[in-house]
Amino acid sequence: MKPREIRPGVYWVGVNDRITELFEGLWPIGREGISYNSYLVTDEKSALIDLSKEMLSDDYLAQLSGVYDLASLDYVIINHMEPDHSGALKRILELAPNAHILGMSKTVRMLKDFYGLTENITQLTNGEELSLGKHTLRFVYTPFVHWPETMMTYMVEEQVLFPCDGFGGYGALDGGIFDDTCTNLPFYEAEALRYFTNIVAAFSKSVLSALGKFADMPIKMVAPSHGLIWRKDPGRILELYRTWSEYYHQPADAGITVLFGTMYRNTERALNAALDGIAEEGVPVSVHDVRKTHVSYILPDLWTQRGVLVAAPTYEGKLFPTAMDVLMMANRKRVSHKTAAYLGSYAWGGGAQADFEHIAEKMEWQVLNGFGFLGQAETADLDRAHEMGVQLARAVKAGE
Ligand code: FEO
Repeated sequence: MKPREIRPGVYWVGVNDRITELFEGLWPIGREGISYNSYLVTDEKSALIDLSKEMLSDDYLAQLSGVYDLASLDYVIINHMEPDHSGALKRILELAPNAHILGMSKTVRMLKDFYGLTENITQLTNGEELSLGKHTLRFVYTPFVHWPETMMTYMVEEQVLFPCDGFGGYGALDGGIFDDTCTNLPFYEAEALRYFTNIVAAFSKSVLSALGKFADMPIKMVAPSHGLIWRKDPGRILELYRTWSEYYHQPADAGITVLFGTMYRNTERALNAALDGIAEEGVPVSVHDVRKTHVSYILPDLWTQRGVLVAAPTYEGKLFPTAMDVLMMANRKRVSHKTAAYLGSYAWGGGAQADFEHIAEKMEWQVLNGFGFLGQAETADLDRAHEMGVQLARAVKAGE
């Protein structure tokens, strides 16, 4: 994709990545792709805001060579040091030997740790401004959105926010780079949520803190370093992120996420009875087969729905492993304020329910009465599963 002038003198010079299978080595993006958005400001002084991943350096440099001679570059602004944004730095510096690198204090240390760089680096302070001529950049320290060194850059005259990881999303850009020129906005919003829950959710408190720091700064455009640039409705992505971040300390939407696993369909039959009970109460439900579904795709529902039903059997005296894997990731991502229940089959001694309740207690989830049953579900078990579905749905509706 060619560079685009997004505001006078300000260019998107990003690149798409449709090759990487696992973002951060963890999260599937093989089908969806991702973009590494970089921005070039040309003025009396010039600046690059965030770069690209190293493996795409050739594409990235080709982008830049179409609009600017890097030999004249004055500044490289490092909002965030993670190598998906800084990986091309050494290649850039080879072509821009006079460029100064700007970042917060922890960035200075990381530049040495990651790239052995110690010269031509200027340490910024929170709120500091840099005039490039017609454009003034203001640097706002926003630690832990996503790493401790992270800042966001605000272009004062144009009222553009460059938040790097913040307000970003998965999804390569299919030609249209703006919210009003892409042809599948629901896809990008869904992928923003998946990205949020995979990458940012554990730092929700920091997102809310960052939003507070920009409360008095008008924002006409949100230009993150992953995903769409929001110019028609920049408030949309800010409010989505605010809503999602609020779920770290309050119950989410009325809905139930089912973590379902089975070996010989005994648990599946009991789950179907529970789903009948949930449906009778009219509560939305999302069933995820933990045997087949990567946790990346489960986290969005788990984060945004306040009910959880774990329907999975006992395996070697513990909870079915792939169900436990999801719960361990939920614990790591600080998924909280859930009302949950357990249901599942066991062959001789059980153990899954206690295993589930142990980790649920760690996450401070409210756990309703669940149960395990021997072998296949008898009529009494199916009735009990149905009733459990009703009770869980009612608790979720009541906001418990
Ligand atoms: Fe897109 Fe935290 O890096």
